Amino acid sequence: MRQVDWKLTERQLAAFAVDEPHWLPALANASALLWQELDDVNWVGFYLSGALLEAGLPADELFLGPFQGKVACVRIPWGRGVCGTSAMRNQTLRVDDVHEFAEHIACDADSRSEIVVPLHAGGRVVGVLDIDSPSLARFSAGDQSGLEACARALEALWS
Ligand code: SME
Repeated sequence: MRQVDWKLTERQLAAFAVDEPHWLPALANASALLWQELDDVNWVGFYLSGALLEAGLPADELFLGPFQGKVACVRIPWGRGVCGTSAMRNQTLRVDDVHEFAEHIACDADSRSEIVVPLHAGGRVVGVLDIDSPSLARFSAGDQSGLEACARALEALWS
């Protein structure tokens, strides 16, 4: 498996946020970049709080954002699934075996492990970066810190 150059990836994501300050195209390219750079993954994308998307949408629900991979569930309530739990706890969740995580929502039956990193604006969680793999325990502690740095770079979109 290729080793990701996290410093380079973080810089590229930061550049997306500078080049295009609207989150929609920037996150679309961010999902494509991470999809290109990470081996052994079957889904890379974003779930975003309704509050970020449009006035009137529920802030306590996550909506499907830009992604790469198979068709996925459209809405995830705050506190549900790995994504909603990560958003509610404001904490990265690195799940080595999704079948052992009671709350896991199976969008792609091939997924075996998953990492979810919260995204913030104004000190609040406004969405998550979600990555799935068909392999057990695909994501290392190094991947976690690399992806957390990537998330911080993307948060420039909302600063
Ligand atoms: N597994 C996620 C749902 C989203 S898919 O992985 C794309 C969850 O449990 O929140």
